[in-house]
Amino acid sequence: MSADVRSFFGRPIIIGGGIAGLMTALHLAPEPVLLLSRTLLGADTSSTWAQGGLAASLGNDDDPALHLADTLAAGDGLCDRDMACRILQAAPDAIEGLARFGVPFDRTPNGSLHLGLEAAHSRRRIIHAHGDGSGREIMRALIAAVRSTPSIVVVEGVEARRLAVKDNTIRGVWASCSIGPVFLGSRRVVLGTGGIGGLFLDTTNPSGSCGQGLALAARAGAVLSDLEFIQFHPTALDGPDRPMTLISEAVRGEGAVLIDETGQSFLQRVQGAELAPRDVLARAVWNHLANGHRVFLDARQRPGPEFARQFPTIASACRGAGINPARDLIPIRPAQHYHMGGVAVDGSGRTSVKGLWACGEVASTGLHGANRLASNSLTEAVVCARWVAESVAATPARRTKPAFGGDYPAPDPIPVRPFLSCALGIVRDGEGLKAVIRALLPLAESKDAASDPAAVALMIAIAALSREESRGAHYRTDFPDPAPEARRSEITLEAALGAARELAQSPALERAT
Ligand code: SIN
Repeated sequence: MSADVRSFFGRPIIIGGGIAGLMTALHLAPEPVLLLSRTLLGADTSSTWAQGGLAASLGNDDDPALHLADTLAAGDGLCDRDMACRILQAAPDAIEGLARFGVPFDRTPNGSLHLGLEAAHSRRRIIHAHGDGSGREIMRALIAAVRSTPSIVVVEGVEARRLAVKDNTIRGVWASCSIGPVFLGSRRVVLGTGGIGGLFLDTTNPSGSCGQGLALAARAGAVLSDLEFIQFHPTALDGPDRPMTLISEAVRGEGAVLIDETGQSFLQRVQGAELAPRDVLARAVWNHLANGHRVFLDARQRPGPEFARQFPTIASACRGAGINPARDLIPIRPAQHYHMGGVAVDGSGRTSVKGLWACGEVASTGLHGANRLASNSLTEAVVCARWVAESVAATPARRTKPAFGGDYPAPDPIPVRPFLSCALGIVRDGEGLKAVIRALLPLAESKDAASDPAAVALMIAIAALSREESRGAHYRTDFPDPAPEARRSEITLEAALGAARELAQSPALERAT
């Protein structure tokens, strides 16, 4: 990065180079923007790894109301109906917009979009590009578009470490780059930093996705919402590699079935079986594993010999593990995959801090409720990026003063992973959550590199402890039923630290990891 960052002062700053960040920058053009990416664009982002595609009601037998009904059912009473309705209505146009950026979506021989099926969708409505290479292909097209848009300055290898805030208003971003800490003054900042998988031992996310956006927003005083709702994908390739390889739900959509080491199905009591909502299926797999079984995806009959053609990315990962899915069983286990919660935003992506927007997985729009419907997240990022850009563009740029100092350590999630994996997995209970909160508090309050990841983990744990019910992806053995009324949750870092300190002073039961 050029040492003279003053020339960028005042421009909107977009933090994150995934689909949400790239689309926001493109929609803002020709307004000059600064896009910060921790890595080379496209590397180490969940967007590039996305196998599932984008859900949109494009089929002749489909419409946004049906898509909405499936989304609300999967969301288990917690979706924001109005927001979901708005996003899903805008989805078909957003797909066309992406196609105009040159995304090579898969098409049928007559040229119309090929529509795939995924769990809990009542219609075929998933649009892919190069089969299971959707994210990679979308990113390829968007990166090319961004690189050829003169108004977008992409700064790679720069990590945002803190937001500068005064009177609940954004003043700029403290970032770290090769020449040391830099301050980028701006009254308009957009978070597009992705999810939290890097906080878990078993995840399908890049390990760099460790909740940095949530930490930035929380330390700036923003309200976060529904943090306790974390999605575990039922079928990650069970092997030594971390992060884990996702075996897309689309494989089950094409007929693959789950069996155990006896060769039998164990899903007789699971409504919807292989295509049940993700939380339901992940729990069923988890319980079967906990009962001492092994679980496999059997794709030998269907998609069978078509597997490698339909799912080239997965086939190649399986090959690397010595598995030929057309001939061999694929060992699977659930893994952290997506965060439904995030920074609370309104319909334009505005957070509770003036001048701060959030888009994509880091944001909580209310679309996903307690359990995200498959392939709704890329759709959400693409649709909401336009609304965020419109809102940013309508907010006047104002002068900011330069600032000095701001040397914050790079976040290190490694010490935090065992705590979250143990207490905030598929099955939770109050005592486990309390033990983990006690263990995380000193880390969250420290100035260590693990402090930001620990602060995020602490907020999630407090939110999970406060939700005394089971709903969607949040399952508590001590509160196995849903509460009569579904309510979304809100938390700030200050409130979470206060609750954790209070808990730390009460007598402890010994149990952390
Ligand atoms: C998958 O392909 O199973 C994942 C899709 C998604 O997470 O939406």
